[in-house]
Amino acid sequence: LSRSTAYITLPSILVAGPPGAGKTALITRLERRAPKPATTYTSQTTNIVELAVNEDGSSSYSDDLDASGAVAKKFLVIDTPGHGKLRGATLARLTTASSTASDTKLRAVVYMVDSAALAEDGGVAAAASYLYDILLALQKRMGAGNSSKAPPAIPVLVAANKADLFTALPAALIKTQLEAELSRIRTSRSKGLLSSGVGADDVDSANESDDWLGEYGSKAFSFAQMREFDIDVDVVAGNVVGGTDSGPGVDKWWRWIADKV
Ligand code: GTP
Ligand code: MG
Repeated sequence: LSRSTAYITLPSILVAGPPGAGKTALITRLERRAPKPATTYTSQTTNIVELAVNEDGSSSYSDDLDASGAVAKKFLVIDTPGHGKLRGATLARLTTASSTASDTKLRAVVYMVDSAALAEDGGVAAAASYLYDILLALQKRMGAGNSSKAPPAIPVLVAANKADLFTALPAALIKTQLEAELSRIRTSRSKGLLSSGVGADDVDSANESDDWLGEYGSKAFSFAQMREFDIDVDVVAGNVVGGTDSGPGVDKWWRWIADKV
């Protein structure tokens, strides 16, 4: 790894999501290349680790690339706190991490949710509202800027964690439930605009569509609508705790990440 230049800004992956989803557990496990995560505490600050994947992206998170002397692609994983009061800084990273901004080359966002918490009352609503803010920030980022050059697209992985728990919802159900909840949030946030009694001609439609997530005017939201803004959203189940005996583990997420850096 000594071959890489210190001045090169590394590609980075932002990990966000509600409190307790397992974000810190995931990055400590990847960092230690260990089958188990370290004990974690509620994060109050952003925590960045440097990871590496071999050049063709085929190495496992558990491979020690330093030891094998392989030429590696280094990248950063940014673990952010899920607490509602600490989300501003995370969202700001999404808007400032444009191609022109200085310190990061943001390549992808991993939005982690607790698949068992989603089965509880209010769980979907809590997971969807933060996701809404993140997707809207990414969408605005694609539309923002006065230059004709669009910033590089940032794909989103919804990492449906804790699949080892028997109460966990399957990924396909999490996808449809999040989409339904995002539709509801979109409707309620746009109420003021759509039912204000102002004639269509009077509304500044450019501003109005700015705050609308996905396909403007569509009835139901779907993740596929984000493709209009070059944003791909995948929902993939896994588990940080318990290894592959009790669930899909972290391998599919690692492959997804390795593919984006
Ligand atoms: P904040 O820092 O508050 O935003 O939370 P976080 O997303 O960083 O959560 P953290 O990594 O601290 O994990 C919360 C709890 O979930 C810990 O007790 C983890 O051990 C547990 N946990 C994480 N991943 C899994 C998993 O795959 N399965 C199970 N059963 N528990 C998990
Ligand atoms: Mg944490």
